[in-house]
Amino acid sequence: MQALVTGGAQGIGYKIVESLINDGFSITIFDINPETLNKAKASFGCEVFEIDVSIESDVKEAISQLQSLDVLINNAGIWKPEPLDTLDIDIQKTVWETNVIGTLNCTKYALPILEQSDSSCVINLTSAASRTNSPGLGMYAASKAAIETLTRQWSLELAPIRVNAVGPGMVITEGTASNYEGKALELRSNAVPLKRVGDTSDIAQVVSFLASPKSRYITGQVIFVDGGVTAGAPGHN
Ligand SMILES: NC(=O)c1ccc[n+]([C@@H]2O[C@H](COP(=O)([O-])OP(=O)(O)OC[C@H]3O[C@@H](n4cnc5c(N)ncnc54)[C@H](O)[C@@H]3O)[C@@H](O)[C@H]2O)c1
Repeated sequence: MQALVTGGAQGIGYKIVESLINDGFSITIFDINPETLNKAKASFGCEVFEIDVSIESDVKEAISQLQSLDVLINNAGIWKPEPLDTLDIDIQKTVWETNVIGTLNCTKYALPILEQSDSSCVINLTSAASRTNSPGLGMYAASKAAIETLTRQWSLELAPIRVNAVGPGMVITEGTASNYEGKALELRSNAVPLKRVGDTSDIAQVVSFLASPKSRYITGQVIFVDGGVTAGAPGHN
């Protein structure tokens, strides 16, 4: 079985790669960062392509080199929090281009080879931010809401290819580490109903489940893996 993980050179994507290798998958990684990509190649011995998923021609060319594909994980994502009154439109366009257009590019060009597999699926990474409505997130939460809508739409359009999404809450990665410095880790942990922030394996094992036949009757779903953050307001004792 063959899986493609975008943004798999670090963070949640890296753990997804490790988890899927343990499940017996051969892996291809698409990532924009050559240093971390080479480290991942050395660690896992997998196939890697240094590309920006938002560039259609590069995605098309890289996917044309794949022999087969059973699972596509659209994980590459960026966030650029800025308040509306001072935000830079060009910066926010990069969030949309990476998160939404990157997911669109990879899914469109992977489709012909996913269709050749007997049992294929697409797993998109969304975020609890799409539901929690924090101020100052620029286009990030909106981009993830778009990914959730596309997940449901494609589950109908591409069936029997299954299409689901996984929505992490707060997870410490290379990309988010600065949010947890000093007292912030304790404050953020206490804001989670399960009283801890997530780690990358919390997310990767749900992705593994969705990539496996154990989830064969699940499609069009968004599964939040967030310690309860999107369940509602915590009670007051
Ligand atoms: N960490 C969290 O708390 C959290 C919470 C909710 C959702 N998510 C989502 O999970 C996914 C992974 O997050 P993370 O924390 O591991 O991020 P990260 O920044 O640690 O890693 C992201 C990876 O994607 C790659 N990437 C970025 N832009 C790219 C592009 N245009 N083309 C190809 N590769 C690109 C980066 O080089 C990096 O390897 C993202 O979609 C993010 O929105 C993360």
